[in-house]
Amino acid sequence: MVYFCARNEHEEMYTVRFKFEQKELEPITLRNVEPGQSLLEIALMNDIELHHNCGGVCACTTCHLYIEKGMEFIDELTDREEDFIDRAVNPRLNSRLGCQSLLLDGDGEIETILPDQTQFLGE
Ligand code: FES
Repeated sequence: MVYFCARNEHEEMYTVRFKFEQKELEPITLRNVEPGQSLLEIALMNDIELHHNCGGVCACTTCHLYIEKGMEFIDELTDREEDFIDRAVNPRLNSRLGCQSLLLDGDGEIETILPDQTQFLGE
């Protein structure tokens, strides 16, 4: 009898939970999220408001967010990203830029908190 393992690298999926500093917004949990996407892309595809004034090219701070869980599943912080995080409102040790937070191959749980989006103008 031959058993085939159904899993391969393309079937690895994440659960991503978005929480919000804006009190009126309920947390959103997304399941079966594929790796290779940024948290900004994932948010926008799911109608979650996350500003991105530079268009996602690491040239502003409006996609700033906090990673509460699963930082190990996200691509490493670069010096350039760190420079922009330093200019964000209320940067913390778990700050990242959503457009630079690319989900690595793997599966697990990621939890993020989005700062109050009403403080930004633009996209
Ligand atoms: S959208 Fe501008 S740095 Fe991410």
